[in-house]
Amino acid sequence: MKIVLIGFMGSGKTSVAQLLAEKLNLQFIDMDDLILKSSEFKSINEIFEKRGETEFRKMEMKIAEEIAQEDNIVISTGGGVVMNEKTMSYLTTNSKIIFLNLSFEKAKQRVHLKKILPPLFQNIFDAKKLFEKRMPLYLKYADITIDTDNKNIDNIIKEVVVKIKEN
Ligand code: S3P
Repeated sequence: MKIVLIGFMGSGKTSVAQLLAEKLNLQFIDMDDLILKSSEFKSINEIFEKRGETEFRKMEMKIAEEIAQEDNIVISTGGGVVMNEKTMSYLTTNSKIIFLNLSFEKAKQRVHLKKILPPLFQNIFDAKKLFEKRMPLYLKYADITIDTDNKNIDNIIKEVVVKIKEN
């Protein structure tokens, strides 16, 4: 089984993926971590600063290609994977795509808890536009959608497990 979590920044993809992997006894990987490890940079923000978004998307696509054939794994993606069809073609290979849905207000609250804001959340107005642009794409790729706004992580995991079995 290959499970891929997608969703906007702040939707909890990494925490959910980690716990889900534990619960289902699968391996866990985080694409942003893999991108960083394969680069000479210390943070995703530094990649955006020094190389720009276009280069970051290429690195993201390369990692998606490298992990396309993995199995028995839960993959946490970056919020922007849905912007690139090729990246999504690798991520959708033999996988179940789970979309962690949340409102923009919730995303903003969660992202603002971080010490350093992600590169594409520096400006609220731009982040909101990005959110609106991506929403139809998340829905298009999702095999399963989980509304997360008022749920704690345990309930989210329970719901994911039930829906995976049903799906
Ligand atoms: C991005 C989301 C980030 C990271 C990069 C770009 C995006 O990941 O990949 O900053 O385009 O939404 P998270 O969704 O894990 O914050």
